[in-house]
Amino acid sequence: MTTDFAALEEMDRRTVLHPFTPLKDFAGGRMAPRIVETGKGVRITDHRGKELIDGFAGLYCVNIGYGRSEVADAIAEQARKLAYYHTYAGHSNEPAIRLADRLVRMAPGKMSRVFYGLSGSDANETQVKLVWYYNNLLGRPAKKKIIARHRGYHGGSVMSGSLTGLPIFHAAFDLPVAPVRHTTTPHYYWGAEAGESERDFSRRCAAELERMILDEGPDTVAAFIGEPVLGTGGIIPPPDGYWEAIQAVLRRYDVLLIADEVVCGFGRLGSPFGSHHYGIEPDLVTVAKGLTSAYAPLSAAIVSETVWTVLEQGTDRLGPFAHGYTYTAHPLGTAAAMANLDIVEREDLAGNARTVGAYLQQRLHETFDDHPMVGEVRGVGLLAAIEFVADRGRKQRFDPSLKVGAKISAACAEAGLIARALPHGDILGFAPPLVLTTADVDAIVERTKGAVDAVTATLARDGALAA
Ligand SMILES: Cc1ncc(COP(=O)(O)O)c(C=O)c1O
Repeated sequence: MTTDFAALEEMDRRTVLHPFTPLKDFAGGRMAPRIVETGKGVRITDHRGKELIDGFAGLYCVNIGYGRSEVADAIAEQARKLAYYHTYAGHSNEPAIRLADRLVRMAPGKMSRVFYGLSGSDANETQVKLVWYYNNLLGRPAKKKIIARHRGYHGGSVMSGSLTGLPIFHAAFDLPVAPVRHTTTPHYYWGAEAGESERDFSRRCAAELERMILDEGPDTVAAFIGEPVLGTGGIIPPPDGYWEAIQAVLRRYDVLLIADEVVCGFGRLGSPFGSHHYGIEPDLVTVAKGLTSAYAPLSAAIVSETVWTVLEQGTDRLGPFAHGYTYTAHPLGTAAAMANLDIVEREDLAGNARTVGAYLQQRLHETFDDHPMVGEVRGVGLLAAIEFVADRGRKQRFDPSLKVGAKISAACAEAGLIARALPHGDILGFAPPLVLTTADVDAIVERTKGAVDAVTATLARDGALAA
């Protein structure tokens, strides 16, 4: 049976409400849908037959690459045996149990229990509820505020969207909700003062966090949430000494640390978790994406021994732990995760992220560091970004109406490469599958160079570049 793609496109415009899409342009036909048909390794093919290297692994999630039948088989086998049973009131299923045992052992910090969800957003929502429950049980009802960072990304639901520190996620949605505060973005390139070293900048970020805690009142601040490497806010690795300085402040005021490992977890930085990479000792860990490489929806809030021992005491006073979803610990998701993690470990994908990632970083630096439109090339492992500026000398951004990042991303797609324009500034992000090869890196860099040069030429012609 052949598909009538024109009819399918039309049906899409009429029926699907797409996330992060200009609704009117899409519905009105001014924006072309890309219906992805197949995927193999690091490449996808769309309904027009165009093959693209997926330089963003979907949404930084297809870590093992597309088309891995081992995971599909594990899901099918589990579906035939037991497609679903819930985990309320002590019920359970085998893959959920085995996966929790595995996650507790592999996660950073001293972890004890796993609460499953379906997305990074709902797992962060769960983290906030756990933190509130914890402080209520400890008799600290006022200790409820959560501090996140400007440009941090933690999801799009009411609470996780509030934690997200990007204005576009708040405007017209009545967010952020009350108990959330945002502190300094640890971006040395834009944030450092003249002559300030990276370490001094990190110390200042920590001092600003401490100031915020003191101004709010330490008795009202419950937790701090951060991605080891800030992701959607710009792919910004922390400056030297940042996590050490931040953790010292949190400990001083008895503030829990939630490590949002949704992007960094399971090897992307070249270490098992981002927390291992930066010496972070979290109280709570959020995982999703690379947990199943997106072969099935699954997330988890991983809870430390310290937090668990308090949560456990809730039973005597409050009865059963009153939080959960129909699909919590879904057997298809947890079976997919087990098969996915088998591949991640067997193929040492963290090791590949380290070596091929180092090559990607080197190639991006040698190709773009001196480019007249590039302010900064940055990254770690298989996570990288190029930030474009109108004037390198004066460090001036482009006028947002020029949509430089979006234009470069579109030119990359034209050249057969998905590289994502991130929402704050003109930033092109790369987060390819962890099965990437050095030959793929060469192709990514070559296509990006062509796209950047083409957009640079247009901007120069239009007088939008510094002389
Ligand atoms: C660090 C981080 N946390 C949470 C989320 C939210 O995950 P989801 O989109 O699955 O809700 C994302 C998504 O990109 C993320 O990057």
